[in-house]
Amino acid sequence: MKIFLIYGGKSAEHDISLLTAFSIIKEVYYDYYEVEPIYITKEGDWIKGETIKQADSLRFSEALRLSAAKEVHFAIEEGEFSTGIAINPSELKEKDAVIFPVLHGPNGEDGTVQGLFEVMGMPYVGAGVLASACGMDKIISKQLFQQAGLPQVPYVPIRKGDWIANPEEVFKKCEGTLIYPMYVKPANLGSSVGISKAVTREELKTAIDLALQYDRRVVVEQGIEAREIEVAILGNDDIHTSVPGELVKEVDFYDFDAKYINNEVTLQIPALISEKVEKQLREYAVRAFQAIDGSGLSRCDFFLTSNDEIFVNELNTMPGFTQFSMYPLLWKNTGLNYGDLVEELIQLALKRFNESLVFEQPHKE
Ligand SMILES: Nc1ncnc2c1ncn2[C@@H]1O[C@H](COP(=O)(O)OP(=O)(O)O)[C@@H](O)[C@H]1O
Ligand SMILES: [Mg+2]
Repeated sequence: MKIFLIYGGKSAEHDISLLTAFSIIKEVYYDYYEVEPIYITKEGDWIKGETIKQADSLRFSEALRLSAAKEVHFAIEEGEFSTGIAINPSELKEKDAVIFPVLHGPNGEDGTVQGLFEVMGMPYVGAGVLASACGMDKIISKQLFQQAGLPQVPYVPIRKGDWIANPEEVFKKCEGTLIYPMYVKPANLGSSVGISKAVTREELKTAIDLALQYDRRVVVEQGIEAREIEVAILGNDDIHTSVPGELVKEVDFYDFDAKYINNEVTLQIPALISEKVEKQLREYAVRAFQAIDGSGLSRCDFFLTSNDEIFVNELNTMPGFTQFSMYPLLWKNTGLNYGDLVEELIQLALKRFNESLVFEQPHKE
């Protein structure tokens, strides 16, 4: 079977996506698959590289080693794909093939590219259109989590129109519901882009203006002092969770630079938490996944306070997936290695696709 591995993309996590792609290329079970790498440039062009069978994967291991050594700054040079050809996304329509998109952020993780695969009638790894869109949107996902009875920090959603029309009213709403510090986030971005912490009204104003440069909706959240614990989720109907892991921060705010540039973070797996908290986190993770109709994979991120109070922060439907990322490492510590994880994700994609064919049958006849 053929795997179309799609990576790169226009998002801020372009380089991370390349690392993920190289990790997958290295670990795919080549007895069953061949990989066609599809690289999306930062401009959004789709380029198909040469088909990778077992032997070629060494070249990619080398690329991975290089990129790891240079942390995440390594990006495929144009020369790397000198043999690649520009394609139209619709050319990926093929029988006996599965799409494995490892794209993060807008246009990758938000349901848009998933919609393309649906229209093409191709199986693809990960969440569907609805779950991707809901998981990406910090306001919608909070509303769904609220409905599912999941604990969250208090928040205030703001629309650009309301801010422009009456900033005083917005301040009143925020300050009436929340206390400083507050976190201000664009509704639809990831990787901490456009997010800031505000400790005064002045800073709140700047933070909202900044976030509104990225989206027409922003969310202002109660800032809390808490550990960040994450749980990996795998499955469609039968949902499995991993042991929780902790992002141990050397900084107070895990922003883009801390995350990707300075590596100011250590992963503690399993997280040092009580059995009771672990059980609760894993149960919440499943409920959050179901609340957005997740499938395939997700990583549920929590805040845990010093008196063991739990808050769901967000659900990432396409979590970082390099060999050094939390998601695969959580599974490794739960007894599933990287190669088996990739295989399981492909099987889940095919299963979901085949089930959807059954649903369609009555209309076809
Ligand atoms: N309400 C909050 N209180 C304290 N820290 C927060 C809060 N919200 C976000 N943060 C910090 O900002 C980081 C990024 O926020 P997050 O909501 O996870 O956005 P992203 O989708 O960009 O990962 C978190 O990992 C955490 O370090
Ligand atoms: Mg996050």
